[in-house]
Amino acid sequence: MIEVSNLTKTFGPFTAVSGITFTVPRGEIFGFIGPNGAGKTTTMRIVSTLLEPTSGMARVDGLDVVEFPERVRRMIGYMPDYAGVYDGLDVWEYLDFFAGAYAVPRAKRRSTIEGVMELTDLGGLRHKLATSLSKGMRQRLILAKTLLHDPSVLILDEPAAGLDPRARIELRALLKELGSMGKTIIVSSHILTELADMCTSVGILEKGALVTAGSIASILARLNPGRVLALRTWEPAKAAEALAAFTSVQVVEVGESAVKLNHSGDERDVAAIVRALAVAGIPITGLEEEKVNLEELFLRITRGEVQ
Ligand SMILES: Nc1ncnc2c1ncn2[C@@H]1O[C@H](COP(=O)(O)OP(=O)(O)OP(=O)(O)O)[C@@H](O)[C@H]1O
Ligand SMILES: [Mg+2]
Repeated sequence: MIEVSNLTKTFGPFTAVSGITFTVPRGEIFGFIGPNGAGKTTTMRIVSTLLEPTSGMARVDGLDVVEFPERVRRMIGYMPDYAGVYDGLDVWEYLDFFAGAYAVPRAKRRSTIEGVMELTDLGGLRHKLATSLSKGMRQRLILAKTLLHDPSVLILDEPAAGLDPRARIELRALLKELGSMGKTIIVSSHILTELADMCTSVGILEKGALVTAGSIASILARLNPGRVLALRTWEPAKAAEALAAFTSVQVVEVGESAVKLNHSGDERDVAAIVRALAVAGIPITGLEEEKVNLEELFLRITRGEVQ
């Protein structure tokens, strides 16, 4: 649904986006992750037709964003990182104003606005002034506005910024719901863990270049092959010695009551290892998988330690 190919954007001598390529298939939620200044907003603005690329191309549903900006705009809903609201309008009036601007037919306007207000849980706020909304409410209002023309593609630039934990959870649920309605979504964030459980795939951007892209599971498998297992035993030295016989195992750490090992085999190999250790008389009191720390992994990726 969204194809970005060799996309580059320079501002004078400065390269903000440097030859990035990725695709987002229909119905996917793609997380665009990167630190400040990585080029997320620039890329999203190009895909949204608000900025022209220096070279390379971006297509939405097969349409080039430079050649067919009008048609692309009709398909997408873009939520900018900072959006102002107008003075003197309440929530209903604000949405009604934009429904008019987006040419939602007059006869359908009321039901459309009711629909997006329900989806974004704004019903109770319909008579509140847009300028008096809290940050979280305002984000919901901007998102509601983005949904008015029923776009099939959503491009959301840091929609969770400034939201409290509850509002973030609600936003995640809302995005998942929009995804299940078949919308294709690109959503940016600085924080990998914030998007990890909601995105079907992610792209990690750093200094204008795409460091890695794909499903979280495939990225983890690529960056962190094998799993780390912690084997609990009161004979760690002996256990480490016995483990050395397995080619699929690499002992990472011998602690006081556990051995940490990197393991590249499958469940059967794990069972075989446990059996062999037991036969060798090594007391095993537990075996657990260490959870990969996504935050830590993200820092390593963006520090350039992992490629
Ligand atoms: N109009 C512009 N003129 C000059 N430089 C620009 C312009 N817009 C963006 N840049 C530069 O391009 C780089 C990428 O900016 P961009 O806003 O895309 O980053 P970002 O990943 O969205 O960052 P953030 O997480 O802070 O929102 C930055 O170094 C920024 O200063
Ligand atoms: Mg940005």
